[in-house]
Amino acid sequence: MDPFTQPGDVLIGGVFLVYSGYDFPQPSFHNWPQPVTCNGFHIRYYRDVLGLIFAINEINNSPDLLPNVTIGFSLVHSCMSELRNIGGAMSLMSGTGNPVPCYDCRKTSVMAGIIGDKLSALSLPIARILGVHSYPQISYGATTSALSDKVNFPSFFRTISNNMFQHIAISQLIGQFGWTWVGMVIVDNEVGELGGQAIRTEVEKSGSCVAFAEKIHLSYSKRQVLRVVDVIRESSVNIIILHSTEAHMKFLLDAMYDEGVTGKIFISSASFTITPGLFSKKAWKVLNGTIGLMSKTGQIPGFETFLQSLHPSLNHSHPLIKPFWKTAFNCNWENGEFIKNTTHADTQGPLCSEDEDLKTMIPSLLETFDLSLTYHAYLAVYAYAHALHALLQCPSRENHQPCGNVTSIQPWKVLRSLKKTPFQAHSEDIITFDANGDVPALHDIVTIQILNGHFHLVTVGSFTPGAVTGHTVLINRSQILWNDKFSQVPESVCSNSCGPGSRRVTRRGQPPCCFDCVPCSAGEISNSTDAVKCFRCPQDQWSNEDQDRCIPKTIEFLSYQEPLGHILVSMASVSSLLGLSILLTFIRFKDTPIIKATNRELSYILLTSLILCFLCCLVFIGQPSTVTCLLRQTFFSVVFSISISSVLAKTIMVILAFKATRLNSPLRRWLGPIIPRHVVGICSGLQILICSVWLYKSPPFPVLNTQIENHKIIFECNEGHKLFFYMTLGFMGFLATISFFVAFLARNLPGSYNEAKLITFSMLIFCCVWISFIPAYLSTSGKYTVAVQVFAILVSSAGLLGCIFLPKCYIIIVRPEKNRRECFGGNTSFKHVRLSYRLSVLRHLINAARACVPALWRQPSPPSLSMWIRKVEEIKRMENLTAQLQDRNSRFYRTWFYWDQFTDTAEYKSLLAQ
Ligand SMILES: *[C@@H]1O[C@H](CO)[C@@H](O)[C@H](O)[C@H]1NC(C)=O
Ligand SMILES: *[C@@H]1O[C@H](CO)[C@@H](O)[C@H](O)[C@H]1NC(C)=O
Ligand SMILES: *[C@@H]1O[C@H](CO)[C@@H](O)[C@H](O)[C@H]1NC(C)=O
Ligand SMILES: *[C@@H]1O[C@H](CO)[C@@H](O)[C@H](O)[C@H]1NC(C)=O
Repeated sequence: MDPFTQPGDVLIGGVFLVYSGYDFPQPSFHNWPQPVTCNGFHIRYYRDVLGLIFAINEINNSPDLLPNVTIGFSLVHSCMSELRNIGGAMSLMSGTGNPVPCYDCRKTSVMAGIIGDKLSALSLPIARILGVHSYPQISYGATTSALSDKVNFPSFFRTISNNMFQHIAISQLIGQFGWTWVGMVIVDNEVGELGGQAIRTEVEKSGSCVAFAEKIHLSYSKRQVLRVVDVIRESSVNIIILHSTEAHMKFLLDAMYDEGVTGKIFISSASFTITPGLFSKKAWKVLNGTIGLMSKTGQIPGFETFLQSLHPSLNHSHPLIKPFWKTAFNCNWENGEFIKNTTHADTQGPLCSEDEDLKTMIPSLLETFDLSLTYHAYLAVYAYAHALHALLQCPSRENHQPCGNVTSIQPWKVLRSLKKTPFQAHSEDIITFDANGDVPALHDIVTIQILNGHFHLVTVGSFTPGAVTGHTVLINRSQILWNDKFSQVPESVCSNSCGPGSRRVTRRGQPPCCFDCVPCSAGEISNSTDAVKCFRCPQDQWSNEDQDRCIPKTIEFLSYQEPLGHILVSMASVSSLLGLSILLTFIRFKDTPIIKATNRELSYILLTSLILCFLCCLVFIGQPSTVTCLLRQTFFSVVFSISISSVLAKTIMVILAFKATRLNSPLRRWLGPIIPRHVVGICSGLQILICSVWLYKSPPFPVLNTQIENHKIIFECNEGHKLFFYMTLGFMGFLATISFFVAFLARNLPGSYNEAKLITFSMLIFCCVWISFIPAYLSTSGKYTVAVQVFAILVSSAGLLGCIFLPKCYIIIVRPEKNRRECFGGNTSFKHVRLSYRLSVLRHLINAARACVPALWRQPSPPSLSMWIRKVEEIKRMENLTAQLQDRNSRFYRTWFYWDQFTDTAEYKSLLAQ
């Protein structure tokens, strides 16, 4: 391997990547191995060589820097192969084509150090060897942070930023755009492995997930590349992190275009140099919208003029000028000097005429819009120049060593000088290598825009690592154009984020970024997006409908304001008015037979208690207070007991009336008002007693109940000891059951107007209502419990009112003609009653007559026999008739208004007179 050398007093070695690919013939071990051949001359890479030459020219012409010392250079190109690289570096060290390790065979000039290589992967093996020899090396493109390790690489420097913080920059970038689901493509070598791992760890630490991490390499077969394309196609990610050198990506990008996998946004790490000339137009389209991290670069004044002066005939001393010309103008040389190590696949085409005009093509060919790497190579030369200058200046007089002598320059001295000498190119900032041989890390964030077929590189932000200020990524989003698939910031998430009101549940077997959103359960909230868990609301609060806020629970009670309250209040008032009007009607018509036929006193009591029942509903409605809570159940149960006991008394009286049919029946003395009064008094007294004990032992009190219902607080009356509540209810039930059975027994009493039937029916309603009340009461909560109770009170009272009193009112008001005593018995039974009366009167008469017979017979004019016979026949006929009727109507042939009739003795007297 023969280096290209431009002589000088001091030489700077260069290992430069110029070709982007190589052919490595597999050794057969039968023949002499073929050398690695390079292919793909890349002008952008070649530009770095030109940057070095330009800098050396500048320094040689400079009166201040290294006066009277000429710098020359010696150059090998590495073409992506570590093998060539090491060989090249060693031949530079020894100064011969075939390297002689550890010897410098140059006679005239010394080698100060080496610049190169561009890539981390290529710089690493050189750095290992040069480190052993304390031979300085300044890379212009190797970013991997592994090279900062001064134990392994003691003689390594670089003029490009260390990518130590690029993983932070990338993860911040991803975080800023909210991407949580990204893919990675990394180069398949040590650099890719280390950097990719660092990026992945950081990305995952910041809460994002890596969907895939695929490896790629220049040497991959087509099948391997297509496999990677398939992985990308299958994945739902829109963002792919690229941690690779651009040359390795070439085939993948082309394959992605061919397979139609476009529209992904790449995030390229600092090791990806954005060089459009390397890629095809197909790859451009795939790369459209790529956001890249790029080491900060500077200006090289006069460089463009230098480039314009390039010409093969003028600058035949420039290395590789002919292949450059060949690639730039797509022409051929007859016998290219410096292209012997390259393949000559395409030797067709026109011969280069040397008349070609480079000037107009410079911006597109040499990509002068972005001088990165070339600038860094240029800077590296200046670093050497300043170090040499410092070395030759003899800064310290104390050490009595001869200095200023070019021949005394040794690489290790240059190394020492490099470490401490600040340098600058032109008037730019002064730079000093830090202890790790690094320059300050400053990065630009750039984006690729392919507009109208032109390649644009736009700086959209910057990344400044800093231990004090924090690592900051600044981006101007409005400058980013994305690509033709995304006009807005693309989304790249595995699962859409969960809004407030739900929480994330990771899917089994999938990365944490893939999750389902589960709504918070009732009473729990989450007020942030992507909450991991929901919070339970405090006891007096409840989740709102969206479950993102706790809101105070509403206090609920059956109020007068709400529709249900309105309905119940109006029902209660209408019913009590009805009851009142019935009561008034009864008082007004108190002397008519139908009212006399009822037990008037009992009717008044019953009506009054029913009106009170209706009114006691009003105590249940409205906000509970101490008073209403005390009143509610007690008032209700006492009033209700009074009404039920009245009904019971009424029923008992009916039965008694029918039992006491005969005039001399012993039951007849019970027919007075004693029994009803006692029944009502005792029953309600018992109930009052129960209620008093209740109020004394554990009085009901108003309470705010947060337990029953989740989203409301129920303002209710706590009934104190439930036992008392059920005792009062049970007592009423007991009374009602007795009434029901007694009325049931009396239901078949004769009469078209039979009160016993109506009482049975009303008690049936009553019992049904209160039996169904119990399950309804137990299964409802809050205001509905109260409503159920109110409703039960209303319905059962209305049942009593309607069944017992309405028919009578109907007769009183609508059919007054029926309001006669004769009507109540109905035809048969009333006649039958009259007959019975007459019969019993006749019996009296006959008995009297029998007693009188002897006396009569003794009278002077005894009644005629025929008259006696007539009387006796009449008696017999009536007795027969009575017997028949008795058979038909059973023995209860007396109607219930019996006692009333006994007060009306006129008929009896007239009969007796007869
Ligand atoms: C450079 O060389 C010239 C002539 O040989 C000499 O006059 C001049 O002093 C030298 N300058 C330095 C800085 O050594
Ligand atoms: C962002 O870019 C737009 C368009 O180039 C420009 O107008 C704006 O001033 C920039 N904003 C900042 C903060 O740099
Ligand atoms: C690249 O993206 C820009 C911005 O969306 C779009 O206008 C342009 O057409 C795209 N270029 C290609 C070649 O798709
Ligand atoms: C979210 O809820 C928590 C707990 O209730 C509270 O501490 C926090 O301030 C709330 N945050 C917002 C933004 O409302």
